[in-house]
Amino acid sequence: MIRLFLSGFVLLILSFHGLGYEYEFGSCPKIKSVNNFNMSMFLGVWYALEANDDKLSCTTFTFKTTEKPLKYNIEESGPIQLISIIKHFYARFGKAKIEDVDYPANMAVKWNWMYPPEDLVIFETDYNNYAGVLFCSKLGLASQTRIFVLSRETNLTQENTQKVKDSLQLNQYSVKEFSPIKHKDCPKSNSNNTFKIKIFQDTLTPKSLGRNIEKLVKDNFGEKHSSEEKNESQESVTTIQP
Ligand SMILES: *[C@@H]1O[C@H](CO)[C@@H](O)[C@H](O)[C@H]1NC(C)=O
Ligand SMILES: *[C@@H]1O[C@H](CO)[C@@H](O)[C@H](O)[C@H]1NC(C)=O
Ligand SMILES: *[C@@H]1O[C@H](CO)[C@@H](O)[C@H](O)[C@H]1NC(C)=O
Ligand SMILES: *[C@@H]1O[C@H](CO)[C@@H](O)[C@H](O)[C@H]1NC(C)=O
Repeated sequence: MIRLFLSGFVLLILSFHGLGYEYEFGSCPKIKSVNNFNMSMFLGVWYALEANDDKLSCTTFTFKTTEKPLKYNIEESGPIQLISIIKHFYARFGKAKIEDVDYPANMAVKWNWMYPPEDLVIFETDYNNYAGVLFCSKLGLASQTRIFVLSRETNLTQENTQKVKDSLQLNQYSVKEFSPIKHKDCPKSNSNNTFKIKIFQDTLTPKSLGRNIEKLVKDNFGEKHSSEEKNESQESVTTIQP
């Protein structure tokens, strides 16, 4: 089971950037970020309500301060199907950094040591209700763009949704490909049928790998499951009902 878990885990990390999105030829789109952006007002939880991807559900983003100025913790979470019958609830943790104080709504997000940082542009927000964000990662001559309509709640008025889309259209962006993201029946990290997979920046570095395997299993499966892991002949997955 540990082996199964780890191979799934590696697969998850490797496929994360490709999740539901295609890399396209070309560089990241130029999009105007919010003027006079104030990151302290943007902190906290945001629910993703629409995206240029039709396979998402329950996606959230959380921004938190760090002890360093211009650096923030970012958490992206949502469900993912890794082993067919089990709902996984993933949370990946990254560091967002404002690289130019004149453009504070432009950040570089480092999710994992394996990948170069991803660009984050906050192109629209009123801080209290809605926001529009764009993530773009580059891979050689190709790039992958993820765009989200965010809300402080699991719903958003038509009017505010339109503000985000209008802002995109001002940037010559097509909003035709947008799909809603449902926030119903979202797996909770503390429910029976959910594995919460936590992905940190240094997860799977050669250095941390060996040392962290046990901790990873413990964190992700809980004490109960990790002790069952020790019995190789037993599939601990069976204790989790779909
Ligand atoms: C940003 O927002 C915080 C919290 O509302 C406030 O204390 C601070 O003065 C604001 N900064 C600027 C530059 O407006
Ligand atoms: C979201 O839904 C709740 C409950 O139905 C409602 O009270 C709230 O006003 C709605 N918010 C928006 C922004 O539509
Ligand atoms: C977990 O499963 C047990 C037994 O099937 C059930 O009684 C309990 O309500 C479940 N707890 C949650 C949080 O789903
Ligand atoms: C391991 O699992 C097998 C099959 O379920 C069981 O018979 C055996 O007693 C278990 N061993 C330990 C050490 O739990």
